[in-house]
Amino acid sequence: MDESLDRARALLLGAQRVAVLTGAGISAESGIPTFRDAMTGLWSQFRPEDLATPEAFAANPKTVWDWYASRRERVAKVAPNAGHAALVALENRTPHFTLITQNVDGLHARAGSRNVIELHGNIMVDRCFAEGCVLTSADEIPGTPPRCARCGALVRPGVVWFGEALPPNTLDDALAATKRCDVFLSIGTSNVVEPAASLPFTALQAGAAVIEVNPERTPLSARATIVLAGAAGEVLPRLVG
Ligand code: OAD
Repeated sequence: MDESLDRARALLLGAQRVAVLTGAGISAESGIPTFRDAMTGLWSQFRPEDLATPEAFAANPKTVWDWYASRRERVAKVAPNAGHAALVALENRTPHFTLITQNVDGLHARAGSRNVIELHGNIMVDRCFAEGCVLTSADEIPGTPPRCARCGALVRPGVVWFGEALPPNTLDDALAATKRCDVFLSIGTSNVVEPAASLPFTALQAGAAVIEVNPERTPLSARATIVLAGAAGEVLPRLVG
């Protein structure tokens, strides 16, 4: 690990353009469960088709709303960790830096990251289920779930559900940063959900070095330029500090 870490540090220090992709693993040390870890992952306890599709929300809005409300409560209680902080330090010293996240918890922004692309939306944002527009509590009629005061439709959490398109422009912006970068960092993602899962391979194809940070092997590991097998909160401060 030490030799790989030194090589990865040198690559990042020499890079003008860095793109980072994060997944649930970077927030695990803040106390937010991942999706696919065998014992603690959300998808080992719940079926995504019951909770994370537009059809599930249409059929059982209260069940879905309550599940997201409990996840929101957890997110509101936790704080960014040393891994999030290390990415802020990396952004501060890198001329062109883009942070692409699959996480909906907003912890990168709360840590101080500025150029963040939220591919899967943000769990703290409310949207109208009919029209998709962002709503604040002033635009809502209270209820479980609330209703849009403008059109009467249900209010939904502002996350991307299975079968839905990503928020406008996010994928184009992520792809542009991925194709231009010198170094691409993939952190705490199982690398199985498209289109995010393809980004590190796109970076490799475009000639970037790809560094993976994850305690487990993923479909990327065999192809990554450097694999740093460890927890983000431990590896990233050493990689950037
Ligand atoms: P997963 O739960 O699929 O993967 C989490 C990854 O984090 C695993 O590979 C773990 O080995 C790794 N991990 C665990 N603890 C870690 C730590 N302390 N440091 C670094 N890595 C650690 O989560 P994602 O890949 O983010 O989509 O899942 C992708 C998408 O699937 C999510 O955005 C979500 C889900 O369905 C939507 O909600 C649309």
